[in-house]
Amino acid sequence: MRANSRAVALGNRVRTFRNDVWAGLSSLPKQLPCKYFYDKRGSELFDRICLLDEYYLTRAELAITERHAAEMGEQIGDGVMLVEFGSGSSVKTRYLLDALPKAAAYVPVDISGEHLQQAAGEIAADYPSVEVIPACADFTEPFPLPFATRSISHVAVYFPGSTIGNFLPLRATRLLANVAGLCGRGGGLLIGIDLKKDPAKIHAAYNDASGVTAEFNLNLLRRINRELDGDFRLSNFQHRAIYSAECGRVEIDLVSTEAQIVRVAGRTFQFGAGEAINTEYSHKYTIEEFSALATPAGFVLHHEWTDAERNFAVLHYVVE
Ligand code: TRP
Repeated sequence: MRANSRAVALGNRVRTFRNDVWAGLSSLPKQLPCKYFYDKRGSELFDRICLLDEYYLTRAELAITERHAAEMGEQIGDGVMLVEFGSGSSVKTRYLLDALPKAAAYVPVDISGEHLQQAAGEIAADYPSVEVIPACADFTEPFPLPFATRSISHVAVYFPGSTIGNFLPLRATRLLANVAGLCGRGGGLLIGIDLKKDPAKIHAAYNDASGVTAEFNLNLLRRINRELDGDFRLSNFQHRAIYSAECGRVEIDLVSTEAQIVRVAGRTFQFGAGEAINTEYSHKYTIEEFSALATPAGFVLHHEWTDAERNFAVLHYVVE
């Protein structure tokens, strides 16, 4: 990209961020889109969350993937273009790529550009037989697949981390329908799902003792202050995460500790004492509940893998 068009692209991105924040803080209840968690510091904090004792999700998914990688590789098949949504640091991907010696291309898709380039470079160095084509994109919106120079037999989307749980059920189905469109007939989806379990265990995963999750949540306000000329006082907001068994989801908020006024990019927003900004939901499903969202999107469940405690599931769907 030329310097000029890069500046225009950046301007558009900041404007979208600003408009999303303005809209979210004007709605009732207030909300902020969780995709904005992942600036450089947010991505680093999330990597630290994944290492926490309380955050069982990453370890469970990693163990399942390590143990069943060969079967997953067989299910996905040769000649694939493997497209990873929210590639982060791509640790689990290595197990998969080890089991896919005939993969044609690997396309990590991430909203955080710096993180993406670094992770893609490391994969490219370690898997010279695979064409690595990073795509910096917001996968919550439809985006075109990059062009590969090698011939591709089919496309499979790898969507780990139970990130799909961060979408409201209807939105999840819409996103999965986009995925089905991206894959086309014969395409696959390998997706990680956090399963319903003891609420106390779920609660602990989003309320770690060392406070990394709180810092991660508050970093969103820090980012708004920096990028959108905001004046959030971070000490006036508290992290809150509560599991609602009724809704089957963790509700993650930033709670205003007092009545206050905050400015963002020249607009003011009022907060009452105790008023919450919802920053994320994390839905927990049974395999049946999740399949009820994937089926209307066009996917048929072909295989499921879980850990011994059934904390987490990795599911393989195909567009038939
Ligand atoms: N996809 C992750 C999850 O739902 C994201 C996440 C983990 C998260 N901990 C968080 C988001 C705390 C906001 C706050 O588990």
